[in-house]
Amino acid sequence: MLLEVRDLSVNYGHIEAIRDISFDVPEGSVVTLIGANGAGKSTTLKTISGLRKVRTGSIVYDGQDLAKVSADRRVQMGISQAPEGRGIFPGMTVRENLEMGAYVRRNRSAAALAPDFERVLTLFPRLAERIKQPAGNLSGGEQQMVAIGRALMAQPRLLLLDEPSMGLAPKLIQQIFRIIEEINAQGTTVLLVEQNAAQALRRAHLAYLLETGEIVRSGTGSELAGDPAVRAAYLGGDV
Ligand SMILES: Nc1ncnc2c1ncn2[C@@H]1O[C@H](COP(=O)(O)OP(=O)(O)O)[C@@H](O)[C@H]1O
Ligand SMILES: [Mg+2]
Repeated sequence: MLLEVRDLSVNYGHIEAIRDISFDVPEGSVVTLIGANGAGKSTTLKTISGLRKVRTGSIVYDGQDLAKVSADRRVQMGISQAPEGRGIFPGMTVRENLEMGAYVRRNRSAAALAPDFERVLTLFPRLAERIKQPAGNLSGGEQQMVAIGRALMAQPRLLLLDEPSMGLAPKLIQQIFRIIEEINAQGTTVLLVEQNAAQALRRAHLAYLLETGEIVRSGTGSELAGDPAVRAAYLGGDV
């Protein structure tokens, strides 16, 4: 198991954002957390990244408890996140944004980064065309590509994606999900957070449904996609 989350609770002041959630991410898999706005999905990812404090419970990555591990060290260990809302640097070029993703690597020479640039620009040929442009000039879809590409520049074993399809046109959503599958096929484990349940469940080996901070359903992607309660509330008969 690459990631084991056990009885995890996280608060914002007195607000319990997630409560006693447990889930597993097997090495090599795509795992999805689905749920409505406010369910606790982003909080879960931020806590795995070390950006939010654990109240109770544990996060074990590759056999190691992360309780005392800094956020930067987690990136070095192979946990890399493309944040919700993309979080790109609009005034910097696409190339500079991608380079930022490698900031924790010890060797950041052009030669060391070349294979990773190659990987990212092969996955996202659009970015090769745009490489010298300020990222702020890019479309929403292209900015999402930058966010995922930047996360890949850290050479993750575990890629955390927070709503990569948000705000994108349907055609682009299909494309982004195809690329996520390709990244996974290349050997990167993916934990995918989505409101777009139909698309996420179609790709996920394992899926968990979060409702107001608690996991209320779990199973394979197709099990959840076939669950009448999930279909009624989250799929609108869309699968
Ligand atoms: N910075 C914050 N301060 C206070 N409450 C927050 C903050 N961020 C999120 N919350 C609350 O925590 C809960 C979970 O939010 P979040 O993890 O962002 O959900 P999701 O990503 O599923 O939409 C929500 O009730 C939200 O209002
Ligand atoms: Mg969110």
